[in-house]
Amino acid sequence: MTTKPMFDLAYTGGFAVGAFNVNNMEITQGIIDACAAEKAPLILQISKGARKYANMTYLRHIILAAVEEHPELPICIHLDHGDTVDLVNTCIKDGFTSVMIDGSHHAYEDNIKLVADAAKVAHAAGVPVEAELGQLGGIEEDVKGLDAEEYAKNLHKFLTDPNQAADFWKRSQCDSLAVAIGTSHGAFKFKHEAKLAFDVVEEIMKTCPGLPLVMHGSSSVPKEFLDLINKYGGAMPNAMGVPEEQIHMAVTKYGVCKVNIDTDLRMALTAKIREVFATKPGEFDPRNYLGPARDAITSMVKRKLHVLNCAGKADAVIAQWKKLGSPVPSYYKK
Ligand code: G3H
Ligand code: 13P
Ligand code: ZN
Repeated sequence: MTTKPMFDLAYTGGFAVGAFNVNNMEITQGIIDACAAEKAPLILQISKGARKYANMTYLRHIILAAVEEHPELPICIHLDHGDTVDLVNTCIKDGFTSVMIDGSHHAYEDNIKLVADAAKVAHAAGVPVEAELGQLGGIEEDVKGLDAEEYAKNLHKFLTDPNQAADFWKRSQCDSLAVAIGTSHGAFKFKHEAKLAFDVVEEIMKTCPGLPLVMHGSSSVPKEFLDLINKYGGAMPNAMGVPEEQIHMAVTKYGVCKVNIDTDLRMALTAKIREVFATKPGEFDPRNYLGPARDAITSMVKRKLHVLNCAGKADAVIAQWKKLGSPVPSYYKK
């Protein structure tokens, strides 16, 4: 399904839908198993890098397998950080049920034009569009970011402007908006204290009533994984994420509807593989290190679903989807 029935409920329901990045089968299964156990709606998101790494045909079939295994779950397939209308078009043809077009690093008017062009194409196919306004920090392959220190020093310059957000929404025709409120991509989000600009979220909720807000860069860099990585030969000194209490507050108190998580999945996977390699040097069966990594993803995602307060919301989302007339993008009407 699209994100529409999910956000309809999340907007006033004090919960957010987790948007988890997928790159292979084990990551997808780890996430799905957690959502099935917790009866939670979910967004599986695919970056341009994931398409390049795994090949879209493989990813599509892995996700279709998840849908087939779990018909009871509301699942959305979302393009993460799309950068061109061509890519948006391709993803719609690949069966994506939601797309992001990220023009946040372009000049304001160019961002509006890019999103408006993408929205025209996507809306014609029944696919909602996420846009981004303001700039996140962090450095991620294929995602233009800013150095954490430079970002922290100039934070006010990069945060989303609430009045500009209202103009942007009206003119771009986006359906949801990723906001810059102090989060950043990757594992090194803060140098000292983690702090988000909740006042900015509050203001945007006032200037843009009804617009679902999205938080990118929302991994918390769990200590249990960081410790394992550093203990077993990794080197991630001073990694720091957004504390889960702050994510919980953004969702339950300030109304954020979608929360993006990738780094924590990468860390769970890396930590467990490192642990197996270090403690069982003779191990060479991939099932015996990818299996524990998948399990670690499942238990971490289960916890996140409670942080996002979306555990137990699957049935309500399905009911909302049916109430809307069970809408699906045109790809699924073929
Ligand atoms: O925000 C970006 C996501 O973490 C995806 O990263 O482009 O390396 O797949 P990626
Ligand atoms: P993290 O790097 O904090 O996991 O953020 C992921 C993200 O925003 C994907 O779009
Ligand atoms: Zn992102």
